[in-house]
Amino acid sequence: PVEVFDLVIFGATGDLARRKILPGLYLRWLAGQILPEARVIGAARAELSDAEFRASVAAAIAEYVPPARQDAAALAGFLDRLSYVAIDATGDKGWAQLRAVVRPDVVQAFYFSVAPTLFGAIAGRLTAHGIAGPEARIVVEKPFGRDLASARALNAALAQHFAESQIYRIDHYLGKETVQNLMAVRFANILFEPLWNSQYVDHVQITVAETVGVEGRGVYYDKAGAMRDMVQNHIMQLLCLIAMEPPYHFDPDAVRDEKLKVIRALDPVRPEDIVRGQYLAGGGKGGYLEDADNRNSRTESYIALKLHISNWRWKGTPFYLRTGKRLRARESEIAITFREPPHSIFDDHSGWRENVLVIRLQPDEGMNLKVMIKEPGPGGMRLVQVPLDMSFAEALGEALDDVPDAYERLIMDVIRGNQTLFMRGDEVEAAWAWTDPVIGGWEARGEKPQPYEPGTSGPEDALMLMHRDNRRWREIR
Ligand code: BG6
Repeated sequence: PVEVFDLVIFGATGDLARRKILPGLYLRWLAGQILPEARVIGAARAELSDAEFRASVAAAIAEYVPPARQDAAALAGFLDRLSYVAIDATGDKGWAQLRAVVRPDVVQAFYFSVAPTLFGAIAGRLTAHGIAGPEARIVVEKPFGRDLASARALNAALAQHFAESQIYRIDHYLGKETVQNLMAVRFANILFEPLWNSQYVDHVQITVAETVGVEGRGVYYDKAGAMRDMVQNHIMQLLCLIAMEPPYHFDPDAVRDEKLKVIRALDPVRPEDIVRGQYLAGGGKGGYLEDADNRNSRTESYIALKLHISNWRWKGTPFYLRTGKRLRARESEIAITFREPPHSIFDDHSGWRENVLVIRLQPDEGMNLKVMIKEPGPGGMRLVQVPLDMSFAEALGEALDDVPDAYERLIMDVIRGNQTLFMRGDEVEAAWAWTDPVIGGWEARGEKPQPYEPGTSGPEDALMLMHRDNRRWREIR
């Protein structure tokens, strides 16, 4: 179990708390990781009694926890740890009451599951009212700003009240089991690292394809788009884990220092290396413009980019990234395509292909290494490419069933005081510093995203991004 804690969730009645944070805490309680002395305090504007809050949490758990993990006795025990304070984030109401319930002598964590505009107000009140002790931790969510200036302002507002070592900026991709596995694959095996550079890697593809649209989130999403919503944070983190130098130790600042260097080494993206798209109506569902409720929207629901990292390791190896909504399948993977051997001793080239290492992040997490072998049979030395395929679920069996979801793991890391899987302020700012001119560029050029049919792999021009370089995207199945 983790140490005894008081966790205050601001925005406890909101969507994220209901979908992820509270069900995640329940699952950690069920797994025995939370001690009975721990307390979870919901804080939000609504006037609710403790009993009403508990009932709403029970409903959220019934809705979002898989049936196999629903357990009446465990639920009752979990609800007993909960209480509620009605609070005004920008006023005086509720703060004295919060002070009375948060214990000074246990691990204190404050989860800001609220709009970023409230971060500064809440941080200020937590210290002004003497609620947060010197070791208190605060947890903040994306969007962490919408550009460099706003991210800087948020960092500055938090820094007035909390030290960087107290601030946990969540990127839930870093909490995913397979994303952490990227570091294990790279740094716990001798096999890959010697080849992990531009001398041996032809190119890297990172794909995060989704089937969902922006249903119900149009107001937020239309101001963000795929670049701000997915690339600046989640995909950037994947890119960093693939491209970074080995940290000297698996330690928060050692890892984050190396990620930061990758972001700083990113070249500006050329306009011809960007393809943006917007999904059309289809399959009985409205198109992006309907979902966003904005007929003139130029926001992208799909983006593909070609990037270069200017450092010794990667100069000359392009990274192709793409992400989009309403695509053919929900599929996230990283594919490292190696260069061809320098010389072939075989005459038969018919089945010749480069080696590819595919790391599947979701669904069906696993790894697949495509290697050349001799085609069996009497036909002489004919070559064929076959996959060395490993599904982690098959390889590890039951061990995977109990794997905590990203939020469960990250919340427990906050309580443990481990910042390795959280973004540091300078990392977020560096990511925005790279993102801003890319977005600014297409805005200045007045570019519109290209329409694409839902259920496909995105706009046609994204194919050209690859064909131009004599490469092709891996298929989204
Ligand atoms: C969120 C984005 O951060 O990540 C969403 O705001 C996106 O638009 C989601 O759908 C994807 O997360 P996951 O875990 O489903 O891959």
